[in-house]
Amino acid sequence: MDFKEQIAKQLSKSVNMDFNSIYEMIEVPKDYKMGDYALPCFKLSRVLKSAPDKIAKELSQNIDKGEYIEKVEQLNGYLNFFLDREKFTLSVLEEIQSKNEAYGSSNEGNGKTICIDYSSINIAKPFHIGHLLTTVIGNALYNIYSFLGYKCVSINHLGDWGTQFGKLIYAYKHWGSKQSVEKGGVNELTRLYVKFHDCAKEDESLEDEARAWFKKIEEKDEEAIELFSWFKEITLKEVSRVYDILGIKFDSYAGESFYNDKMQTVIDELREKNLLELSQGAYVVNLDEYKLPPCLILKKDGATLYSTRDLAAAFYRKKEYNFYKCLYVVAYQQNLHFKQWFKVVEKLGYDWAKDLEHVAFGMVSLEDGTLSTRKGKVVLLEDVLNKAIEKTKQIIEEKNPDISNKEKVSSQVGVGAVIFNALLNNRIKDMVFSWDRALNFDGETGPYVQYTHARCNSVIKKAGEIKQKGDYYSLDNDEAFIVLKMLYSFPRTVAEAKEKNEPSLITRYSVDLSQAFNKYYYEHRIIDEDEKGTANRVLLTKCVKTVIKTALKLIGIEAPDQM
Ligand code: ARG
Repeated sequence: MDFKEQIAKQLSKSVNMDFNSIYEMIEVPKDYKMGDYALPCFKLSRVLKSAPDKIAKELSQNIDKGEYIEKVEQLNGYLNFFLDREKFTLSVLEEIQSKNEAYGSSNEGNGKTICIDYSSINIAKPFHIGHLLTTVIGNALYNIYSFLGYKCVSINHLGDWGTQFGKLIYAYKHWGSKQSVEKGGVNELTRLYVKFHDCAKEDESLEDEARAWFKKIEEKDEEAIELFSWFKEITLKEVSRVYDILGIKFDSYAGESFYNDKMQTVIDELREKNLLELSQGAYVVNLDEYKLPPCLILKKDGATLYSTRDLAAAFYRKKEYNFYKCLYVVAYQQNLHFKQWFKVVEKLGYDWAKDLEHVAFGMVSLEDGTLSTRKGKVVLLEDVLNKAIEKTKQIIEEKNPDISNKEKVSSQVGVGAVIFNALLNNRIKDMVFSWDRALNFDGETGPYVQYTHARCNSVIKKAGEIKQKGDYYSLDNDEAFIVLKMLYSFPRTVAEAKEKNEPSLITRYSVDLSQAFNKYYYEHRIIDEDEKGTANRVLLTKCVKTVIKTALKLIGIEAPDQM
């Protein structure tokens, strides 16, 4: 039931204006004491040629309240609507009960495909905490869009191409061994890579040797390809451990190298459409008209670039998936890169350029200073997750040592804490990762929300099966009403999170709902001798449990029944 629609309907009987315009004007006041909905009458001033105060006063006297409005008040040029709480309450409970875990979902995306390029790790590089945001934001968007009926394709656009792989092969052949790499994994590959750079500073000829090896990869030399594929395999094995912990899966691992044979057609098309310009020996697409620096397509030596690969990938994805939207969950440091090549697609004349979207986010650092990959001071994501699980285990050991499947719960809560913390703030904000903040069971944290879910579960279990049909009166109080309003706003929150590609809206929502429920819980007994009253209070608890569970699931977090 759309209550805003009901109000707009009643209003449109008194105001000579089309329904949609009225609907758009209606707001939800921050303070419930100012009503459940409000119409800022200054928006009508010009049309009705009257002062907001006067309009509000007149409307408050004349409006037909209809079925769902209990009371209309006017204050400072606002018309405030108060819903009939009983009707509202019963309608919300009914809706959640009937839809259950599908409450908040929709089929708006049916028949539409969303490609989501996220995590997109680099081969032979450590999977560090800097990748946390792209990985969890991308996964949350995948869940949110799927929940709204879209078909989603998760793509890990691997960084598996570039001269660095020539360097790595050279380094491996000089300072590495099969055993050392098998044993040390990506760590050893990083060591070799760093060693190459140190030595190349002394001896410039190393760069030529590395180039020669890279050329061999390009020419598909057997040994070069074998080593290159092996490095890739090792990296993927390590990252999939992390994806397993996070519960994330990718539909495609088509990385940069996948587009080696798919760039020429794009380059040809750019040339045919006269968009390729020679600039100091390199080929670029001029973007002066957009006040952007030119987009580099081919280097002086004819080599392709990161942007050439992204262009080829976009054309491939359009053809393969016919996406409705293609999202790129990549740090804001790459803003310019995406702006530029999106414009190249536009200049080529493809209107789907507007469907490419860079979902940018800020940087992650640790409390003891920012990350520096160079100095080897990286914090591995896997270590962070394992440490979170370990710390949670200790806390559970202290607080609730008797629960069953401690291991599993520790993992759900520890991992949940890290994900939650990463998705709590607006994605564009830089974040400082703090253990205390992430694992705090009381603050705005994953464990707090999970704990509220477990609390609901224990209330429901204690109440046992309820045969009695409930009655509204037991929920007739402000605390319950606020919980119900939160529940009611869930579908709107999900829709907005999708609209803005902002999972943090759901994270925040889960905190607000938990706080509202906990306030209710402290001020009202849920189970007492009054069976009818108990029935509805337990029903409310069930609805809260369902919605918290769904909200957490959307952001990629599990909700244990006990913790
Ligand atoms: N591997 C890249 C990096 O770590 C991110 C790739 C993002 N996706 C893309 N299609 N460009 O910076």
